[in-house]
Amino acid sequence: MRVRVTTDQPWDVDVDVLVIPIVGDPLFDGSLGELDRRANGELAALVAFGELRTKRFTSAIAASGEVRARRLVTISTGDAPGVDREVVVRTAAAALHRLAGRHVRSLAIWVEPLAAVLDGGTEAVAGLLARGVVEGSFDPKTLYLDEVPTAPPALDELVLVAPDADLAACTRAAERGVILGEGANLARSLSNRAANDVSPEVLAEEAWAIAEKHGLWIDVIGPDRATELGMGMFMAVGRGSDNPPRMIVVRSGKAGELDAAGRHLALIGKGVCFDSGGISIKPADRMEEMKMDKTGACTVIAAIATVARLAPGTPLLAVAPAVENMPGPHSTRPGDLVKALNGKWVDITNTDAEGRLILGDAMTYAERLGATHLVDVATLTGAVSRALGDLVTGAFGTDPAWTGEVLAAGARAGERYWQLPLVDEYWTEMESWYGDMINSGSGEGGLVKSGLFLREFATKPWVHLDIAGTAYFRKAKPWAARGATGVSHATLVELALAGARPA
Ligand code: BES
Ligand code: MN
Ligand code: ZN
Repeated sequence: MRVRVTTDQPWDVDVDVLVIPIVGDPLFDGSLGELDRRANGELAALVAFGELRTKRFTSAIAASGEVRARRLVTISTGDAPGVDREVVVRTAAAALHRLAGRHVRSLAIWVEPLAAVLDGGTEAVAGLLARGVVEGSFDPKTLYLDEVPTAPPALDELVLVAPDADLAACTRAAERGVILGEGANLARSLSNRAANDVSPEVLAEEAWAIAEKHGLWIDVIGPDRATELGMGMFMAVGRGSDNPPRMIVVRSGKAGELDAAGRHLALIGKGVCFDSGGISIKPADRMEEMKMDKTGACTVIAAIATVARLAPGTPLLAVAPAVENMPGPHSTRPGDLVKALNGKWVDITNTDAEGRLILGDAMTYAERLGATHLVDVATLTGAVSRALGDLVTGAFGTDPAWTGEVLAAGARAGERYWQLPLVDEYWTEMESWYGDMINSGSGEGGLVKSGLFLREFATKPWVHLDIAGTAYFRKAKPWAARGATGVSHATLVELALAGARPA
C-alpha cells in the first residue's frame, strides 16, 4: 500500500472512497458544509433520515455527487472531549471494517476534523490514522484461507487529506504509522495461528526468520541448555509436551549496551503456545482460546522487529519463553518442587499458573544478559479480564518512575492501562510448607498475587502488563475482527524508541 499526504481539499481527491470523520453532532459549516453541498446535500439528508448518528464508530455510506471520490463513508467518533489517540486509530480501522467485502483500491481519509480536536495536531493524527488503516485491514480468516470475500479491502493507495499539513512531517508520521500497524499485525498473525501449526519450535523458527530479516542477534535455548542453566521453572512447564520448549532471545545493539535513555531495556513475553492447564487441566469450555496464550511472546518479537525498522541499532532485548502446557506422563504434578534460575524453590500447587513460572526464569535470564529495566507482557490471569474487561490492560510495577514511563508510553501509543497494587500483606497466602513460595495462592486477590509472584524475579525496575483480557476479542468490534488485537505492541515500541539515538 502506498501512502500519500495531500494538501488538496477533501472534495478534490480522486479516490474510490473518502472517509469523513464526524466529531460530535455534525454541523454543516466550514469544509463539512462545502462537502455536503458538493455531495448534493446527501450528508445532511442522512442526518435528517436518522442514519448518520453521533454514536462512536457508527458509520454511513453516501453517494458522492460532485465530490471527486466515488463514494463517501462517515465514521462517527463521538463527542470531541472523548476523542483520544485510541479513538483516532480505531476510527480509521472502523472505516476498513465498514468497507469489508467492498471493491476499494484507493481510500482517502480527511484528517482535519480529528486534528482539530487532538493534542499533537495533524502529524500525530496522520500517523495514528495510517496505523489504524493497516490494523483495520487485518482479518485472521486470511491466515488459512486463500480467498476471504468478507475481508476488509486490500488497498493500493491511502491518501491522508490535510489541507494545512507540513507535507514532509506528515508523510514521515504516516509512514511510521504504517510500520507500527504492520508490527501489530505481525504479532496478531503469529498469535492467532493454531497450536498444531505454531509449536514452541515453530515460534522460534519464526523469530529466527524475523531476526535475520532485520539484522538482529538471536539465541534459541532448547531443553538441554535450559536445564543446564538451571531454568527449573521454565522446564517444569515445558517438559509435559512432546513439543520441546524454546527460550527465544533476540537482541538489537550490543550485549548489555545502554540506550540513549541510559537503559538496557528487556521486553519479556509469555509464549504458551497452548495452555491446557497441564495436570491441573482446564474445563473444555473455551479451551480453544488457549492457543493465544503465546500472545505476549508474539508481541515482544514483533516489537523488537518494529524498533529495528524505525530506529535500527537501538539497544533492546526481547526474551520469549515458549512452551506448551500439556498433561502427560512427563508433566509436572501439583505439589512438585522446582528450583528457579534465581535460586528460589517454588512449590507448584497449580500447573495452570504456568505463565508466571516461565516468565520468572525469563526475567532472571534477561537480567543476567544485562537488562537494567524490564517489562513483561503476558496473558496471565482470567481475573484481569473479570476486573478490567477486554479494553483495558492491567499493569503492575515496582518502581514508580519506571511504571510512570511505561504508562506514559502507553498514552503516546493510544493504549489503555490501569495500574493495580502489589499488596504486600497478601504474600502470606503465597507461603509454601516446603519451598520459598507456592505458584498459585489460595483465596481471593489472585490477580494481585500473580504480580507478587513475578516480583520475586525482578531485582531491577520492572513492569508487568497482564493482557489476558485485551489480547484477543471474542467477538468482532466495529474496528477489529475477532481474535488477536496486537495490544501493547505500540506501547512497547514507543517505550523502546525513547532510547533511540536521534537520527
Ligand atoms: N493463560 C491463563 C490465563 C487466561 C485465562 C488467559 C483466560 C486468557 C483467558 C493462565 O495461564 C491461567 O490459567 N491462569 C489461571 C491462574 C490460576 C490457576 C491461579 C487463571 O487465571 O485461572
Ligand atoms: Mn494456565
Ligand atoms: Zn496460561
